[in-house]
Amino acid sequence: MEPVGRRAEIPTGSSLLDAAQAAGIGLVSLCGGEGWCESCIVRLAGGELSPVTAAEREVLSAEQLAAGYRLACQAIPTKDVKIEIPPESLATPQRLQVEGMSAQVVLDPPIESVNVVLDPPSFEDMRPDRERLEDALAEAGHANVSLSYPVLIDLSSRLRDLGWSIQVVLQNDQGIAILPPEMPIFGLATDIGTTKLAAYLVNLTTGETSAQTGAMNPQIAYGEDILSRIGYCREHKDGRRVLQARLAATLNDLIRKMCAEADIAADQIVEAVAVGNTAMHHIFAGLDVGQLAMTPYVPTTGQALKVGARDVGLDIASGARVYLLPNIAGYVGADHTSVILATDIWKTDRTSVAVDIGTNTEITLVAQGRLSSCSCASGPAFEGAHIRDGMRAAEGAIERVQIKNDEIRVFTIGGKPPVGICGSGILDAVAEMRRCGILDDKGALQEEHPLVRQTDQLPELVLVPADATGHGRDITLNRKDVNEIQLAKGAIRTGLELLLLESGIGAEQVENFIVAGAFGTYISIPSAIQVGMFPDLPLDCFHQVGNAAGMGAKQALISLERRRVAQDIVKQIKYIELTTHPAFQKQFMRALFL
Ligand code: FES
Repeated sequence: MEPVGRRAEIPTGSSLLDAAQAAGIGLVSLCGGEGWCESCIVRLAGGELSPVTAAEREVLSAEQLAAGYRLACQAIPTKDVKIEIPPESLATPQRLQVEGMSAQVVLDPPIESVNVVLDPPSFEDMRPDRERLEDALAEAGHANVSLSYPVLIDLSSRLRDLGWSIQVVLQNDQGIAILPPEMPIFGLATDIGTTKLAAYLVNLTTGETSAQTGAMNPQIAYGEDILSRIGYCREHKDGRRVLQARLAATLNDLIRKMCAEADIAADQIVEAVAVGNTAMHHIFAGLDVGQLAMTPYVPTTGQALKVGARDVGLDIASGARVYLLPNIAGYVGADHTSVILATDIWKTDRTSVAVDIGTNTEITLVAQGRLSSCSCASGPAFEGAHIRDGMRAAEGAIERVQIKNDEIRVFTIGGKPPVGICGSGILDAVAEMRRCGILDDKGALQEEHPLVRQTDQLPELVLVPADATGHGRDITLNRKDVNEIQLAKGAIRTGLELLLLESGIGAEQVENFIVAGAFGTYISIPSAIQVGMFPDLPLDCFHQVGNAAGMGAKQALISLERRRVAQDIVKQIKYIELTTHPAFQKQFMRALFL
């Protein structure tokens, strides 16, 4: 099967979908192989398949059939076959690639550990515990080690509990943890998003991820977006401290959960790396955030930062530190630095774009060896906010929409009865509505279209009638909902076009288009192109890479070299402020069209 390059032997009578599954290839199969969702299209490049079924005739055009396109769930090989899988039929095709890339990072953590055995004190040898340990370390070849204050606090009881045979974890010349000899040591990598947190527990000896988990950012209770959280910090005397403490408490829950899963103690975690947008970074590190809401929106620091884990409330080894990757600008944070790091686009010769879609969307363009970045206020529409029937991506959310022959088909997360529509579903719906002529290029619903229903207020499209939903109410989209998507996609396209303009190149020259982040992983690229959010490039230019920010954080956790690279990347990037760009208004107006 190409371009994946896998072979599979399958029992007679099995479909191509079965073959793909047997070969470990994630083919999209939204309808579960019933033959009507059109998501499993493949092309026969050699060999012979069973005759075309009625379901395939219904879904595929005569031209597609003539060109060898088939539905993988319907077609059964009758001989050896060679199959081509178009990128749109592959489920999150590039996610593994990023995970594979982290595996290639050479293990070079900023931590080492040394086992020592001490003579217990006696009336003949009354050296204090600290000096006794420092002497033993010097004898083991580690002179000039000092023990950090948090380690000193319970050093005496640790030495006695462990019977004077210990492992000292060192960072440079600092002793940061005392553990039983040979006990494995771990690191924590975390991606602090405005909405979601992701955390990874990594074995620092092997570089392997032992556990990973996620949670909603508890700061949501203080404001859905960055500006409202900054507002909370400015308006409340201890606002910053409250938000920081809530975040640390949730991160500690995640740490406990991962420790239980990996069957380790939290003090075996001896190093941490955190990434996040600039506001999340600053709140986590306890820095001022007010200036991020004031022109010209500069961060407190653009350099990497090291803080004590205990100083930011993380319950890991007492002397452990948290390394925060550098920010690029007030609205292009360390999480984007991490995306650039993980995807390696900073060193590519090819004209490349990396987009991380969220409430703020960060974009980096690499052209002629130069990097430029910007941030666009794409808003929360892709999180389902400001959309009447919108919701976050959760069970029962419509994530895919197809309209064919005036029939609407929806697919929900978990296959549950629909209760709302999430970002990828809304994007699909708008793309399909435009493609079928339900919307004009300004986003107005065509009232004469048979699928459009007149109401007292705005005309609307009924995506799912009340009797087929999980809550007994119609799920609909109207012009206001469509306009929210236009604003969001218009902001993203404007950012991209202005970066291209500043670099003097056209969108058609982009060879490599990386879409990062949770939302970006689930969107349909053809829909994003149809609505004009992304340029009309060949589909194989696009790579949906999942949580690249988290991957970059993991790389920085296990490799000092990757930390140096991250600092270099930030120095090379030219930040472009969109709001004051002379071409912004014109470009934005143009980008609103569908
Ligand atoms: S899986 Fe739906 S058409 Fe094949």
